[in-house]
Amino acid sequence: MKVAIGSDHAGYELKESVKGYLSSKGVEVLDIGTYSEEKVDYPDYAKKVCEKLRSGEANLGILICGTGLGMSIAANKCRGIRAALCLYPDMARLAREHNNANVLVMAGRLMGKELANWTVDAFLNSYFQGGRHERRVKKLEEIE
Ligand code: RB5
Repeated sequence: MKVAIGSDHAGYELKESVKGYLSSKGVEVLDIGTYSEEKVDYPDYAKKVCEKLRSGEANLGILICGTGLGMSIAANKCRGIRAALCLYPDMARLAREHNNANVLVMAGRLMGKELANWTVDAFLNSYFQGGRHERRVKKLEEIE
């Protein structure tokens, strides 16, 4: 399992924390930046993480900006990407089980580090349920 992770400046601190958490659990992490709190534009980092998924270099993605909103909007413009803004573990579980989300988006300015770790755990340890959800996810692809 390889996870591509990226953030803008507002998500940088939480990205570093989540990255450390994942590494401590033995998850391989591909950090595409940003690498400091210098101001940057979130679409650039959303695009980079999505490209890693689309090329097969990573299986899942994590994106963090201040609210998670900009990263969600940007990532969902990429073909094949289903990015879900999740502020709680249950949202992350359902994003995988029902929506087959492949990118977890979190809010660096709204979430504490522990909550973010729990949310990441829920995302990585949940799986698409298929069934009636398969049809709905297919319809998402048709919109693309
Ligand atoms: C940056 O100030 C902020 O706008 C960004 O991190 C994000 O919250 C945008 O949606």
